Amino acid sequence: MFNSQWEAPIYKALCDYQSIAPLRLHMPGHAGGLGFETGEFKLISGFDVTEVPGLDDLHMSQEVIEEARRLLAKAYGAQESLFLVNGASSGIHALFLSFNPDDEVLVPRNAHRSFFSAMVLSAVRPIYIPVEYQPELGVALSVTGRQVDSLLAENPRVKAVFITSPSYFGTAAPIEAIAQKVHQKGIQLLVDEAHGAHFAFHAAYPTPALHCGADAAVNGMHKTLPVLNQGAALHVAEGFHDFTRLRAACSLLTTTSPSYPILASIDLARAFMVEKGESQLETAYQLARQYREKINNLPGLHCYGDELTGFEGVTGYDPLKLVVSFPGVTVSGREVAHQLREQYAIQVEMAQEKFILAMMSMFHEAAHWERFYQALKNVTAVYQGRRENTPIAKVPVNPTVLMTPRDAFMARKKQVPLKESAGCIAGESVAVYPPGIPALLPGELITEELLEYLYYIKNSKLQIQGPRESSLNSILIIDG
Ligand SMILES: Cc1ncc(COP(=O)(O)O)c(C=O)c1O
Repeated sequence: MFNSQWEAPIYKALCDYQSIAPLRLHMPGHAGGLGFETGEFKLISGFDVTEVPGLDDLHMSQEVIEEARRLLAKAYGAQESLFLVNGASSGIHALFLSFNPDDEVLVPRNAHRSFFSAMVLSAVRPIYIPVEYQPELGVALSVTGRQVDSLLAENPRVKAVFITSPSYFGTAAPIEAIAQKVHQKGIQLLVDEAHGAHFAFHAAYPTPALHCGADAAVNGMHKTLPVLNQGAALHVAEGFHDFTRLRAACSLLTTTSPSYPILASIDLARAFMVEKGESQLETAYQLARQYREKINNLPGLHCYGDELTGFEGVTGYDPLKLVVSFPGVTVSGREVAHQLREQYAIQVEMAQEKFILAMMSMFHEAAHWERFYQALKNVTAVYQGRRENTPIAKVPVNPTVLMTPRDAFMARKKQVPLKESAGCIAGESVAVYPPGIPALLPGELITEELLEYLYYIKNSKLQIQGPRESSLNSILIIDG
């Protein structure tokens, strides 16, 4: 029995197994690294094992994985937590599979693509929460309580509301207010908290979804913690409607050969965060404050901060997500990112015409922040002057959903010229980035108004995502 949060049961079991220097007559086929020729792979191969005695079984955990699960739940204030080895996406899939086919769920129109694959798997019916974008940046920052309230009033059969918080840009949604409304109706609130696995460990960061009253939250542990890619966790609160079904759904979606290095890295990260997370996050918080101010003092640059909470729906923000825009210099975000990479070997998370997104972590030290700041200063110094304001895309028209994402996925499809597509049902998605809000998803009617919008984006220089034929001369529709 492991009682201390400072222990990491899965990691310890791997060390114990390694310490007996076993002759490995079991999977995986590299046989403890014998089959790897490169040093890097040899290094991690000792931990890359299968379910030998002492290492438990993710699908019916009773020993070290069960202990680690208990410690994880405690650290996150959850009733139950599950380890995920296929990213936050698999937690989102499992949450949808805890509902029945044709159940209605409210989801943000700009939700991560895993929501759409989850609806294909589960046959859940989406009711989309329209998202508005913040006009300066051209991206959506949050759903609003107002939007959720009115959709709940109009759709009495809804079984759950599934929102995203924080956004990719670090902005937090009004979870507490939404939780109150949702629970008055006796339904569930689920949160895609993929980018917020660190929130539970420092009060200056947005309040974690579970503490705000959500019934379940998914954390992409690999996104913000020292966890290997794909490592994620699914947490549920006491009021979650069906944990047995959720667990079965996770098992159904998960490989029978889960990666022990991923599991152990989640286990270790939890122990690390309980022991040192607060002080590490405090240092990062102070650096973020200091460098936001410094970047805001650079001529022509703006690093978003407290003013974000002035936008409707935004209740807080992750200080480690730096959204830097360039209102007073004659250079685009894309060019800045290009020069940061080419001249300073700095790679940011995302670059758009109007801004860049730098994801800082609690492991970046003062010297890293300074390096980023100096590079930003040097790159932009030579571009003083106001840049022509690039227009942002118009908001797509409201969708007319005729088929569930699942039925649309299963249906036969054919390609037709765009000009002949009015009145047809779309067989593929179309979005422009930014704002990344889909104009069309499979199963939705291509109305005259929507066709007009498609022509507008086709004739613009906007970046079109989704269609097989990206010039949009033709489009995939449901055949029949
Ligand atoms: C908001 C959001 N949700 C979910 C996901 C899926 O996470 P993963 O890549 O861990 O499956 C992402 C990935 O970027 C994301 O940005």
